[in-house]
Amino acid sequence: MFARRDFLPGSVAVVTGAGSGIGATVAAALIQRGLAVALLDRDVAALAETVARCAPGQTLAVPTDITDPEAVAAAFAAATEQLGPVRHVVAAAGVLRPAPLTEIDPLDWAISWQVNVGGVLHVLQESARRLPEGGSVVVVSSNAAVVPRIGMASYAASKAAAAALTRVAGLELAEHGIRCNLVAPGTTATPMLAALWPDPAAAEAQALAGEPAKHRLGIPLGRIADPEDIADSVLYLLSDQARHITLQQLVVDGGATL
Ligand SMILES: NC(=O)c1ccc[n+]([C@@H]2O[C@H](COP(=O)([O-])OP(=O)(O)OC[C@H]3O[C@@H](n4cnc5c(N)ncnc54)[C@H](O)[C@@H]3O)[C@@H](O)[C@H]2O)c1
Repeated sequence: MFARRDFLPGSVAVVTGAGSGIGATVAAALIQRGLAVALLDRDVAALAETVARCAPGQTLAVPTDITDPEAVAAAFAAATEQLGPVRHVVAAAGVLRPAPLTEIDPLDWAISWQVNVGGVLHVLQESARRLPEGGSVVVVSSNAAVVPRIGMASYAASKAAAAALTRVAGLELAEHGIRCNLVAPGTTATPMLAALWPDPAAAEAQALAGEPAKHRLGIPLGRIADPEDIADSVLYLLSDQARHITLQQLVVDGGATL
């Protein structure tokens, strides 16, 4: 008999970066599946937009800067008190500060590590303290953690560190029946990408075709990902359909890192 539930009815999830892009799309998809979701982001106005966009259901917007461990702990406590015990966690908050190697601003370097590594650490630590057996975590990394990209040193290094961190967490938590996996998106149409692409039409054509001068291959599937493409993979790894998968990084980039 092959009948398995995706998620326990009424489960509670915490999603960071829920104010925008991939995090907002993941949160909306989880709410659509009947989960109650605590939406964490440092951007209060963006959180309000996500709440408005979500199908009616149980949401809790918790303005949180994930670089602050006490704020993350307080957000998980609020989620537990107001929605119920947290079973699933998605860490999607991230920052991108591109620059050539010799021009990296020390502040941008520090912020990249504080958010993309430190923030993920705080979320993993709080998940370890609170998740029950059967719980799961998905951290959103990047295909830049897998292949080198020109101008992406701070971002790629921090995302690779987050991937290593998540896999160690998954190993430590496996004995408690908690799974930790990663989704590594490639080029995805979100506000983060819009900030990187002042001329979107030209940049999209270049991303699809590749840039040999920058040692960058194109995207074999010939399209830029929608946030929904990434959310589908996040939901799969988060759900009981992936109950025997842990410590894995799923690259979702149309084949760009072949
Ligand atoms: N868009 C892409 O092409 C792409 C590609 C690969 C990986 N990613 C990764 O996917 C994730 C989501 O990115 P996106 O494209 O949706 O970006 P986005 O900029 O649209 O959303 C990121 C969200 O994270 C929040 N955030 C940033 N720092 C925070 C902090 N300290 N505390 C709490 N919230 C914070 C922002 O306010 C924002 O709402 C990121 O981790 C990003 O690195 C994106």
